[in-house]
Amino acid sequence: MNDVIIACDFSSQEELFTFLKPFQGLNPFLKVGMELYYKEGPQLVKKLKDMGCKIFLDLKLHDIPTTVHKAMKNIASLGVEITNCHAAGGILMMQEAKKGLKEGSIDGKETLLIAVTQLTSTSDEIMNNELLIPGHVNDVVKAYALNAKKAGLEGVVCSALEASIMKEIGMISVTPGIRFADDSKDDQKRVATPSYAKELGASYIVVGRSITAATDPVAAYKRCVKEFC
Ligand code: C5P
Repeated sequence: MNDVIIACDFSSQEELFTFLKPFQGLNPFLKVGMELYYKEGPQLVKKLKDMGCKIFLDLKLHDIPTTVHKAMKNIASLGVEITNCHAAGGILMMQEAKKGLKEGSIDGKETLLIAVTQLTSTSDEIMNNELLIPGHVNDVVKAYALNAKKAGLEGVVCSALEASIMKEIGMISVTPGIRFADDSKDDQKRVATPSYAKELGASYIVVGRSITAATDPVAAYKRCVKEFC
């Protein structure tokens, strides 16, 4: 299952397709997030699926259970491989998300639903002082992952630093906050290199700027694959 997912944080599909040109033949797993989705909408996701791309649609749903249920039903119709909601929405919300995905699935193919535990840009300090959640990020990530498991989900988004906890509790871990040793952390706080993520047992790594902002994105992608897969 180990794979590298490229976070396609571009502002338009023109930019995305320019970026993807040199990747022909490699067929990387792509993450479409809010920036691109809110500009191009579901049509872009359909286009990428028609091109044979594997897609993680990262829209991080967080609303009342009924709204999330209905939204997930529509997301399911896109046939993406992975999508997500925030574990902070609670167990009932996650259960409804899962139900919506099941109801909307096409050809019996169910999208993998994962729950965002704590953003990789969140540190202990931010969590304690701004979100008013006491304790360590690790413990909160584990508690949220156990809630996700109770709701019937099979995986979570967390940092690679918590991947071993996910292994312990039998959850798939999709881990952003990946940087090469010589990269800038940018706004990320809980970061790991692709090889360290592998050592910690991450199932998937999500890599954005370390590939998209590299002088040679294909070489950076291949370096991730070599280190992680
Ligand atoms: O550029 P970078 O590698 O930091 O991009 C990370 C990507 O993963 C971004 O698209 C961001 O939205 C997403 N993400 C994250 N932390 C989470 C969940 C998603 O960084 N917990």
